[in-house]
Amino acid sequence: MPAGGFSGPKGGGTEFEAKITPIVIISCIMAATGGLMFGYDVGVSGGVTSMPSFLKKFFPVVYRKTLNEEDSNYCKYDNQGLQLFTSSLYLAGLTSTFFASFTTRKLGRKPTMLIAGVFFLCGTVLNAAAQDLAMLIIGRILLGCGVGFANQAVPLFLSEIAPTRIRGGLNILFQLNITIGILFANLINYGTNKITGGWGWRLSLGLAGVPAGLLTLGAIFVVETPNSLIERGRLEEGKSVLRRIRGTDNIEPEFLELVEASRVAKEVKHPFRNLLKRRNRPQLIIAVALQIFQQFTGINAIMFYAPVLFNTLGFGNDAALYSAVITGAVNVVSTGVSIYSVDKLGRRILLLEAGIQMFLAQVAIAIILGLKLKDDPAQSTLPKGLAILVVVFVCMFVSSFAWSWGPLGWLIPSETFPLETRSAGQSVTVCVNLLFTFVIAQAFLSMLCHFKYGIFLFFSGWVFIMSFFVLFLLPETKNIPIEEMTERVWKQHWLWKRFMDDREGGGAVFNGTDEKKIGHTNGFDPSSQL
Ligand code: BGC
Repeated sequence: MPAGGFSGPKGGGTEFEAKITPIVIISCIMAATGGLMFGYDVGVSGGVTSMPSFLKKFFPVVYRKTLNEEDSNYCKYDNQGLQLFTSSLYLAGLTSTFFASFTTRKLGRKPTMLIAGVFFLCGTVLNAAAQDLAMLIIGRILLGCGVGFANQAVPLFLSEIAPTRIRGGLNILFQLNITIGILFANLINYGTNKITGGWGWRLSLGLAGVPAGLLTLGAIFVVETPNSLIERGRLEEGKSVLRRIRGTDNIEPEFLELVEASRVAKEVKHPFRNLLKRRNRPQLIIAVALQIFQQFTGINAIMFYAPVLFNTLGFGNDAALYSAVITGAVNVVSTGVSIYSVDKLGRRILLLEAGIQMFLAQVAIAIILGLKLKDDPAQSTLPKGLAILVVVFVCMFVSSFAWSWGPLGWLIPSETFPLETRSAGQSVTVCVNLLFTFVIAQAFLSMLCHFKYGIFLFFSGWVFIMSFFVLFLLPETKNIPIEEMTERVWKQHWLWKRFMDDREGGGAVFNGTDEKKIGHTNGFDPSSQL
């Protein structure tokens, strides 16, 4: 997942001497494989679940429903087991995040990535060789553990190894790789669907072994980050790695800063409890809200289930997979727009513009389906022109997501937490994201069955709410050094500044040094007791 806890104490205020060395380039390739792997898992499940040979083997009930003329168009794929195939990965991912946060700290970034790679490989083998539903689901759970470990360690690794000036770009590059992974999966599904022997789905699931293998190999060959070495007391080793990755002998200032950052971080004995203190509340609320909102845009309804959705709309199998490839490509290209414009236009403009575009696209899709796609399976296809129009609106929706909530849902939490809560904040961010990804994966096909075209109105309602959240509650963080956020962003905001008084935990502090504050902390503030 993009953007892990940056561990240098200066987020752009200080520029240290650094070349872009081969080791830094290798680390970019690492990011690519970690992101590709996650994206591949996101994209592959929808394609295989729309393949008749896969359904026949594992979900015969659903298979019969797809043939059955009596079932509602919207309900053909409504099956908890089928949804569990997709969603189990995210449940496993969010559980393993807690273990990953421990191994990342205690063992280092490199071993944690290696653990992720091994989980990915085992999961891929089980999936490609699956004989029954149990093997399939256990395979997905192992892949999920890989996602939990990789998404904690890889972004952290990247942000620690990257020179400050390319750290922001690298951050969104990770999201770009997620989208490339999704597109690959769509393309491969499109190809394997044409295999007549009924084993195409095995190839789709098995090819996840390519990014998994690359990640595993990468984790063996890459260096550990200086930050992690220093954090674990291996100072000299940390210094020599820093020299190698920066390509210069002039690393003393950065080295001292890393030592200082690690000292400060060690003083925080209970990182998660610290996160709940009153002065950290605004960042926590924003991080959690952004993750929930990102998932309630409805993006993964499209990313997971586009082929199934297009099938539901009456597209033939081939056309459904083909359309998923188109939306996947739009996702990749539009992420590029974000990389280019996020530091020029700013985060708020992108989110607000996208809010309007997503809202209109979803309402338009709902209107077309509401008017033209009847429940009655006898009328199971949309007229061709309208079907194309639906794909156009889906692309309009996906593109605006890709330059807003996709990357920014990750970027903003990673840049607003102060150092003392950054890594705990990142764990919570990953966890809440996977939790709500799980909810959408598990519920979407049932929601489609019950809400019918109204599902798109449901998501558009959320887009409306989240746009108002951005308008009033999300401060602009463009071009502000990370460690200056408290002064320049939070203390200036009409609402959040109320949380920014310097009282420890927000409670009244009755000791000598804080006597002058007693005056205004006289009243008991119940919220400070959290
Ligand atoms: C989200 C994923 C989503 C992807 C789509 C990411 O930012 O976290 O859930 O599948 O974007 O491109």
